[in-house]
Amino acid sequence: MRDSRESAVWPKNMTLLGCAYKLVPELVSAFGKADCMCFDPPYKFDVRGGGKYRNARKGLDRVASMSLHKGFNDEIINSEYAHSAIVFCHNDQLVDLLPQVKRHFHRHCVLSMHKNNPQPVANKHYVPDTEFYIHAWNRGYEPQGKLADKARHITVARPAKVPFVDPATGAKQFHPTVKPMAVMRKIMTNIAGETVLDPFMGTGTTGVAALEAKKRFAGCEIMHEWFAVAQQRLQAVA
Ligand SMILES: C[S@@+](CC[C@H](N)C(=O)[O-])C[C@H]1O[C@@H](n2cnc3c(N)ncnc32)[C@H](O)[C@@H]1O
Repeated sequence: MRDSRESAVWPKNMTLLGCAYKLVPELVSAFGKADCMCFDPPYKFDVRGGGKYRNARKGLDRVASMSLHKGFNDEIINSEYAHSAIVFCHNDQLVDLLPQVKRHFHRHCVLSMHKNNPQPVANKHYVPDTEFYIHAWNRGYEPQGKLADKARHITVARPAKVPFVDPATGAKQFHPTVKPMAVMRKIMTNIAGETVLDPFMGTGTTGVAALEAKKRFAGCEIMHEWFAVAQQRLQAVA
């Protein structure tokens, strides 16, 4: 597969509707490896329970209705596709993902995003105030930025909801797992290189941050609603 440093034609802003497991190898074959694969895949976690607060946690029902609690095939964390990777995950997934990360990348760091307004639940565990992401890299793609940019954590509020408006009915629906722009902007200051690939782009938050940072972006999304939202958001910053 070609290296993006040898390729003059890596897309500036390309969105693909379909399954990442098919599209990513095709994209890399056509354009070369991305400098960074940056993705927030379906997490794997238990959406049951919630105790007396469960009725107030409609977000969990939305996650379950979109099957965003069933995880992903971690073989997509692959140095054949990119020189570095950012992978968001649930606490329970870290133990399974890190061996795959280690097989493909020279070094890694586990970073965290703290929510200053978490759901007030603990339910025989801890308050869900922290999400993790792994930054893994091969030589030449080490973390970038000034010392202040290289903190291992960032504190944010839950992000504004991004709606999809059904053109036929006018009904609105909201993607349940949109990442905060502040987190994605921090990540853009930390990743090396110019090309960013997001196999699970949802509403396109990674792409918006990548284009703002003057990087080239390619993203895949399997659901047409979120694909349409991502296209709109990306066109607004392209
Ligand atoms: C956790 S969400 C990403 C949200 C995104 N970070 C944002 O800010 O909007 C994961 C997305 O991956 C999509 N998805 C799930 N399986 C997929 C697949 N095989 N190929 C492409 N996209 C997929 C889901 O439809 C969902 O929108």
